[in-house]
Amino acid sequence: MTAFTAVDVIRSKRDGSELSDAQVRWVLEAYLRGEVAPEQMSALLMAVVWRGMTARELSAWTTAMVASGERMDLSGAGRPVVDKHSSGGVGDKVSLVVAPLVAALGVAVPKLSGRGLGHTGGTLDKLESIPGWRGELTRERFLGQLREVGAVIGSAGESLAPADKALYALRDVTATVESIPLIASSIMSKKIAGGADAVLLDVKVGAGAFLKELEPARELARTMVRLGADAGVRTVCLLTSMEAPLGRGIGNALEVAEAVEVLQGGGPDDLREVCLAVAREMLALGGVSDDPEPALADGRALEVWRRMVAAQGGDPDAPLPTAPHTAVVEAPRDGWLVRLDALAVGTAAWRLGAGRARKEDAVDPAAGVVLGAALGEQVTAGQPLATLHASSTDRLAQGRAALEGAYEIADAPAASVPLVLEKVS
Ligand code: URA
Repeated sequence: MTAFTAVDVIRSKRDGSELSDAQVRWVLEAYLRGEVAPEQMSALLMAVVWRGMTARELSAWTTAMVASGERMDLSGAGRPVVDKHSSGGVGDKVSLVVAPLVAALGVAVPKLSGRGLGHTGGTLDKLESIPGWRGELTRERFLGQLREVGAVIGSAGESLAPADKALYALRDVTATVESIPLIASSIMSKKIAGGADAVLLDVKVGAGAFLKELEPARELARTMVRLGADAGVRTVCLLTSMEAPLGRGIGNALEVAEAVEVLQGGGPDDLREVCLAVAREMLALGGVSDDPEPALADGRALEVWRRMVAAQGGDPDAPLPTAPHTAVVEAPRDGWLVRLDALAVGTAAWRLGAGRARKEDAVDPAAGVVLGAALGEQVTAGQPLATLHASSTDRLAQGRAALEGAYEIADAPAASVPLVLEKVS
């Protein structure tokens, strides 16, 4: 006989009572055993959307999610281990740069990543545009690469926080994704189970992010930092702007090429700035006070990138795929680029073939957008604002349509907004 019933747990949450640790643990475990029905868990999730969770409930919920699978043991890495997570943005190739950069300075980076859905790309999709590269690694190879190279980006398997996958499948179809406690526990359960000593979170804020405003982003950041601390994983969160895309390339191979430019000491200023800010925090979490910038200029980070790619079957010297069709979107007038909507640019890249609408879809590694001007720049009529890359002229037309209204050119420059908005620790 169990001490609880699903109906009582749902009713308690619906009426605003605090669930006990035992109730939280029971309901999650019973759901995974198939004893709590999907419609009951859906009702509970909707009650959480409305009522929220206390810090205690959320900590118990996250602990139960972590306990639903295994927690990786990375103690064999031989150096401090710091993981990184981004809430997802347009042109966000920061992980590709910071994993080898931070590893080059003595902090190991074990990153488990996913694929993209909708207008934001996934890190695995990006890396898979490198000929031969594979994200599926056995546990032994993952740990071996972490020890020998210091950086590994692999696909998240089924064994970490399986409760998250089961809950997310329900949330996706019951309009219960948008809840700070549910998002925070979803992200942090996977990060805690990932086994790092510390985690740097990059929460994107703005038009191209799933959080458009600063205040909810702050609340998510504080909630995740607290959950990390509760689990003994030091966690710092940067809130960074996603009003405009990050860098110039949006699309899988285009983003890899741009990440390599940064690793070679060049690349767009905005991307470099966010990469360096994230790398500094990761190094500090790993107890390293070195400035990461020289490791970009002198090739140390690039060398780790090459070893990281090669260790996963990729050829770092192979040409990346290119699209057979391109089209240019020109500036209609002289002026200052005062708006460059990240959501519209991300949607254009998706329509061009860089993203997927359903989990089963394949992505086109070569498709995407290369911006000809950055937010805040002065442009002249006829100058390329964007070059679209696709496998067909039909796709190009779809991408062009998605870009309509994405930018605004004004007679005077707009006040510049910082890229790194806040730090929560
Ligand atoms: N990303 C996650 O991993 N989980 C959520 O719930 C939302 C975004």
